[in-house]
Amino acid sequence: MKLILLGAPGAGKGTQAALIKNALKVPVISTGNLLREAIAQQTELGMQAQAYMDNGHLVPDELIIGLVKEKLESHDCDNGAILDGFPRTVAQAEAMEAFSQVDVALSFEVPDEVIVKRMAGRRTCPKCHTTFHVEDNPPKVEGICDKCGETLGIRHDDDPEVVTRRLEVYHEQTEPVKHYYEGKGNLHSVIGTGSVEETSAQIYKILGLNV
Ligand code: AP5
Repeated sequence: MKLILLGAPGAGKGTQAALIKNALKVPVISTGNLLREAIAQQTELGMQAQAYMDNGHLVPDELIIGLVKEKLESHDCDNGAILDGFPRTVAQAEAMEAFSQVDVALSFEVPDEVIVKRMAGRRTCPKCHTTFHVEDNPPKVEGICDKCGETLGIRHDDDPEVVTRRLEVYHEQTEPVKHYYEGKGNLHSVIGTGSVEETSAQIYKILGLNV
């Protein structure tokens, strides 16, 4: 199954991708994580992407589309994949049609004011990319990743000014992608304001999974 996760920054896509992956037994392709890894390794892609990401803008389509195509064509994705953060523009969605079909598009609905609060409390593992929230989804030991033991950090783009820009970019450039999949008949809305568990339960129901 090819599943795409749409939603504002901080809507909970990464948190849910990590859970759904276990139920569907397919890999997660997170374009944000791939780009952060490229920046950490100072690759050509990372160097080109960094300024866009730090300022809350989207990285140009031409840098992203080939990256996702390559991942989806690898054997890891023979049984499907969960795409977290792609497509994010209508041009990306149209380009994807040429190399892969989408079975289900999930749109996480979370108001902007909730997003701002979530981003202010987010802590992220730089090694395995697991995300936590200081109040709503805290790690077992403060400041330490439950999964791999690494010290948690704060993403550069979680700065409040950058979050405001990312929300504007989401409304302008990514919300139209929702309407694109609505037109295709495979869009499902997920109310993302409940707990992590309540959100997962909605997704399992949409996917017909008995978890
Ligand atoms: P990316 O890394 O994809 O960031 P994003 O979409 O902005 O999403 P986030 O990772 O910030 O949030 P999330 O929805 O995964 O929320 P999370 O689960 O962490 O992209 C970063 C940048 O890369 C972009 O700005 C762009 O520059 C570039 N980029 C990436 N893809 C691109 C593309 N296709 N094209 C062009 N550019 C691209 O949750 C957030 C917080 O809330 C956490 O603290 C979490 O613990 C907490 N939380 C989660 N669920 C709940 C819940 N139900 N209740 C309470 N708290 C919750």
